[in-house]
Amino acid sequence: MSIISEIEKRRTFGIVSHPDAGKTTLTEKLLLFGGAIQIAGAVKSNKIKRGATSDFMEIERQRGISVATSVMAFDYRNKKINILDTPGHKDFAEDTYRTLTAVDSVIVVIDVAKGVEAQTERLVEVCRMRNTPIIVFINKLDREGLDGFDLLDEVEQKLKLRVTPLSWPIGMGQRFKGVYNRYEKKLNLFSPHGKQTSDDLIEFTDLSNPDLEKYVDEGPAKELREEVHLIEEVYPEFNKQEYLDGKLSPVFFGSAINNFGVKELLDCFVEIAPTPLARDTEERTVEPTEDKFSGFIFKIHANMDPKHRDRIAFLRICSGKFERNTNYLHVRNKKKIKFSNPTAFMAEKKSVVDEAYPGDIVGLYDSGNFKIGDSLTEGEVLNFKGVPSFSPEQFRYVNNADPLKSKQLAKGIDQLMDEGVAQLFTRQLNNRKIIGTVGALQFDVIQYRLKHEYGASCTYDQLNLHKACWIHTEDKALMKEFLDKRKRDMAIDKDGKPVFLAESAWMLKMAQENFPEMEFHFKSEF
Ligand code: G4P
Repeated sequence: MSIISEIEKRRTFGIVSHPDAGKTTLTEKLLLFGGAIQIAGAVKSNKIKRGATSDFMEIERQRGISVATSVMAFDYRNKKINILDTPGHKDFAEDTYRTLTAVDSVIVVIDVAKGVEAQTERLVEVCRMRNTPIIVFINKLDREGLDGFDLLDEVEQKLKLRVTPLSWPIGMGQRFKGVYNRYEKKLNLFSPHGKQTSDDLIEFTDLSNPDLEKYVDEGPAKELREEVHLIEEVYPEFNKQEYLDGKLSPVFFGSAINNFGVKELLDCFVEIAPTPLARDTEERTVEPTEDKFSGFIFKIHANMDPKHRDRIAFLRICSGKFERNTNYLHVRNKKKIKFSNPTAFMAEKKSVVDEAYPGDIVGLYDSGNFKIGDSLTEGEVLNFKGVPSFSPEQFRYVNNADPLKSKQLAKGIDQLMDEGVAQLFTRQLNNRKIIGTVGALQFDVIQYRLKHEYGASCTYDQLNLHKACWIHTEDKALMKEFLDKRKRDMAIDKDGKPVFLAESAWMLKMAQENFPEMEFHFKSEF
């Protein structure tokens, strides 16, 4: 098969949600449709249950599983679909953000009762920065929740997405009758516990047709007509190009646990979702259809068990064909390197792959060669853009607790930062090292790994900061003035770039007002 037809088949996406909205359940239903798993509950074990005795030990136990669920591939309607896991809960880390740089589109899952929640807001912000096409799935319609229009308002305001509902619920909770699929002009009637049959899908092009009352009662039928009429007046018509440009998000309603509305979502997804996209590098734009292979590392998964030090680096293939046992250039190290056991993931299964195509994710066993963002090519020097560091939200000073092991500590911290576990800043005022993370649990992970993998001990001092912003200006005098005035609040990141440490949102606002010409960035790449 030609490389072009391989590319056309691929859809690589991530599911974004706040914990408990139904991401795992939806993933599982999608995998069931694709035949990648046979029983419900297969993906469930990846979930880190709240209330576990020690979240950290639980995470350690789960790490093996989460490697397996990092990528879940399945075939559906002659398409090869790769779902990339975006871990949530307490193991929410920069990893999650960075995974979004390796997808071509996302599905956002929202709980109908809870509406838009914090973690979703942060993840969608990253998608918006890259104009990633987004489909929204509003889940748990079998429960009482917010009014459909209020939810759409919330999605527009909090997620800053322009939306258009492609399906619309008929009632909700106890009164939930099903959805009207505006996209396919079909009524989909609900019966709980996934007993949907194809008879439940009814062609219905004209809602004014009195036959509607045959299927739903008079009250809900009237409500549906009025609401769909309103939708047609208020919301833009669906336009695939606008969706692909990240400017319009279709919205679906359903109930993942009841397998209701999931097939419609998947059918629409395979029809509209983008094939692997071109990627920017510092040197040029790389088209997926190019003959020569290229790709980048977006995630590194280290084994916390000291007996098995292997790390797995996750490679997103951007162009050409990747082949096993072939020499590729590791651009940063300027060295040729080949892989004898590149691994592909098929839901629960792992297998060695001989070849992979743009959009695919391959796991590479690594003994410490890779850093996040590294490129592999057939020889050309390419540095992929769009794998930035994001401003951490939790900060602590790190102290060496064992003076005899300072070298080990420095090495350990260096390597963990390369893996993207957290970020290291050096404060200029006192030369102290600051570790910044997205989720608080990462501090425990770092401490544990430093001890078990490097024999080093560290302690932390609390540091209350709001954000770390990368500052930039071409005006050297302005930069000097800023650095002089804000000496107290300045640090450098691991690449020596100046970073402003804002103690509060107010401090940040003041700095922005006092230096209107200065650029403040919340990610390291701008
Ligand atoms: P997550 O991965 O986003 O964290 O969510 P997950 O799929 O684990 O779902 C969270 C909870 O919501 C689960 O219940 C799940 O069964 C439930 N759920 C998912 N989809 C629906 C739906 O459409 N309707 C209803 N009513 N519930 C739904 P749990 O009690 O936490 O777990 P479990 O005991 O069912 O496994």
